[in-house]
Amino acid sequence: MTVLASALDTRSDDYAAHRAALLGKLAALDTEHAKALAGGGEKYVQRHRGRGKLLARERIELLLDPDTPFLELSPLAAWGSDYTVGASLVTGIGVVEGVECLITANDPTVRGGASNPWSLKKALRANEIAFANRLPCISLVESGGADLPSQKEIFIPGGGIFRDLTRLSAAGIPTVAVVFGNSTAGGAYIPGMSDHVIMVKERAKVFLGGPPLVKMATGEESDDESLGGAGMHARTSGLADYFAVDEQDAIRQARRVVARLNHRKAYRDPAAVEPPAHDPDELLGIVPDDLKIPFDPREVIARIVDGSDFDEFKPLYGASLVTGWARLHGYPVGILANARGVLFSAESQKAAQFIQLANQRDIPLLFLHNTTGYMVGKEYEQGGIIKHGSMMINAVSNSRVPHLSVLMGASYGAGHYGMCGRAYDPRFLFAWPGAKSAVMGPQQLAGVLSIVARQSAAAKGQPYDDDADAALRAMVEQQIESESLPMFLSGRLYDDGVIDPRDTRTVLGICLSAIHTAPYEGARGGFGVFRM
Ligand code: COA
Repeated sequence: MTVLASALDTRSDDYAAHRAALLGKLAALDTEHAKALAGGGEKYVQRHRGRGKLLARERIELLLDPDTPFLELSPLAAWGSDYTVGASLVTGIGVVEGVECLITANDPTVRGGASNPWSLKKALRANEIAFANRLPCISLVESGGADLPSQKEIFIPGGGIFRDLTRLSAAGIPTVAVVFGNSTAGGAYIPGMSDHVIMVKERAKVFLGGPPLVKMATGEESDDESLGGAGMHARTSGLADYFAVDEQDAIRQARRVVARLNHRKAYRDPAAVEPPAHDPDELLGIVPDDLKIPFDPREVIARIVDGSDFDEFKPLYGASLVTGWARLHGYPVGILANARGVLFSAESQKAAQFIQLANQRDIPLLFLHNTTGYMVGKEYEQGGIIKHGSMMINAVSNSRVPHLSVLMGASYGAGHYGMCGRAYDPRFLFAWPGAKSAVMGPQQLAGVLSIVARQSAAAKGQPYDDDADAALRAMVEQQIESESLPMFLSGRLYDDGVIDPRDTRTVLGICLSAIHTAPYEGARGGFGVFRM
């Protein structure tokens, strides 16, 4: 055993300060999560209940096996936009009849459950997760379809939802639609494209055009039930496979459908799972509020991996990047964690080699971000930092083992890419509440802008207004700072959620379990040309 020792002094002032700062951020995060939970607010929740209906999360809770967790994804979607936090859609991973499933549920209390641009992004992301990990997809449907005022943003890309459903089906990944209410126009293709369809009596409304539209188009008089009720679809059109007498019955039948899917995981669950030797609660006291102050990521690794057991690879070489092997909830992982922020040539080369090794051994990779990017300056440029950074990005891009990313602190510049940022398709990416991500730090960015403006003025022979410059710098700094924060980035779906650091092991464990539903094989070759 190679159990990590800890040098964290839990009685120090630093520890207390880091912990207090992070707890403050967690409280702010709770406030934002509460907005997603509140959906459309009291009035619409009461109206929904008054109709004898269950809320989106209550439907999910009834669907899941008792006492099993639900990993909700992107709960802050639409944060910072004009739309309600959560984007009128709940998505996540949960266990139904022993099968890990990707579940989506419209929130009908938010603008009738209509899909806005962020709901669409969130739904497409959920489909991506289902596809990559071969998770059966269960849609709990009750939606006003497209959010009509924002139709220009969603109509054309929105077709991807139906495309995904049939591609999932074609890949042998089951899709189940449970219709609790409105599912009209484009929404009708959700049951239309799903493998298994359940509809609730006198509630489901599944038609291409409702009575007013039909009247306008053909002059025909009709009503909701005859056009698209559960009874009609179960008895006459055949679109519904199962007729449910109420919501609970629909959920019961959905569970029976999943029980009969014969969906098998590619890998068995690991036999032995050992908790870390160090207390995960202490994860709150490791990362300084000021991200310029470095911290040792081994302190984090020691609190998330099984038995705190970590075999470090090349510890003496490229020491700003910690690499090594561990198990997490029994699953083998290779970890890459930034130590002192900057990535130099040696770190980049070490990362590329380590990623290749993980691919040779079929071992998933976990990236723990705290980087300000690749080193700049004459010495480093001459030493080939571009070549070596490219080598690392090449390795990450063409690696075929599953990747997980956690933004612990800074994740700036191309360092975000090399550490498997969002554009590099990690299976899952989460941020801690103190994380920041941007092209560079706010001060650096504002400073660069100012230097460029000063040079431009000089080139034109114009005087430079230093007061205006200071004001501009302050404004830019503030803007970049606010755009670097995890809630902002999560709102734009650049991560799958902002998590409490203490939950990291559990969240990653659920992800690793989901990942092992699909078979995977590392890249034995197939990397781009490594520029040596
Ligand atoms: N786009 C934008 N806003 C929508 C919407 C949509 N597709 N559907 C509903 N809303 C809004 C409503 O205007 C209402 O806003 P308000 O409370 O500020 O007035 C709110 O969401 C709730 O809608 P309401 O009609 O009161 O709720 P309901 O539960 O009684 O009915 C629907 C829900 C979805 C059945 C009904 O709103 C409806 O038929 N919407 C239009 C459906 C449609 O044709 N969509 C186009 C599909 S492509």
